[in-house]
Amino acid sequence: MKNTVSTLLKQKQSGDKITMLTAYDYTTAKIMDECGVNAILIGDSLGMVMLGYENTLPVTMEDMVHHTAAVSRGAENAFVVADMPFMSYQVSVAEAVTNAGRLIKEGGANAVKLEGGAEVCEQIKAIVNASIPVVAHLGLTPQSVNAFGGFKVQGKSLEKAEKLINDAMKIQEAGACAVVLEGIPAKIAEIITKRLVIPTIGIGAGNGCDGQVLVYQDMLGLTTGHTAKFVRVFAQVGELMRNGISDYIAETKNGNFPAVEHTYSLDEDIVKALEKKFL
Ligand code: KIV
Repeated sequence: MKNTVSTLLKQKQSGDKITMLTAYDYTTAKIMDECGVNAILIGDSLGMVMLGYENTLPVTMEDMVHHTAAVSRGAENAFVVADMPFMSYQVSVAEAVTNAGRLIKEGGANAVKLEGGAEVCEQIKAIVNASIPVVAHLGLTPQSVNAFGGFKVQGKSLEKAEKLINDAMKIQEAGACAVVLEGIPAKIAEIITKRLVIPTIGIGAGNGCDGQVLVYQDMLGLTTGHTAKFVRVFAQVGELMRNGISDYIAETKNGNFPAVEHTYSLDEDIVKALEKKFL
């Protein structure tokens, strides 16, 4: 059965941890859905892990709609959340509603996610008023990488920790149905989780959240180079892919692939006739 905002809320209330993973294409979403993941996020992290950008800032609405539609087709049961890309909701409330609407209408998402606290409450209210569920995103919000001066853990001072907690209460008041807490000390995430009625989904925010989210390339060992402290590699899929691709190259070059079982045959009489005529 399709997971909804109510499913996630009930999970918080019963203490059943919410599982969310990112996906950007049909095949991956289908596998995750079959495994029983509760929610799938089409993160604007696709800019980095799918499109090879340095950060999420160049991602466009077209990118998000395209990938969201592919994931939605593969996600039968999982709750599908689509990220609103940088500058798709900051300029005006009207633009925010229009762009959120596209992710639902054209992308088939069940909810949208946007980054920020008090400063985006008007956008959250307006999108929710258009009957579109909104997931908020606080802490190390990657679209603010330039303002933060890098990807740094947030909320380390008393003042900043208090701002995070106040922002969490404000986005709930504005109507957000859940909040992603990224790159903040576990204690702050725990306090927010206890204060809020809506579920918290953590990434680099410790074990006290109502659920967890990870970028799938990170948790399947597909990411090369630096990975964040909060990532656990659950399976070395990258290594399996490298082995498989190297084997394919070697077996093709040495003539072992394709073998007889991968080859279509032809009636012997026809073979003889063709050989007589053409060879
Ligand atoms: O874009 C993304 O993948 C995200 C998650 C890291 C929460 O926002």
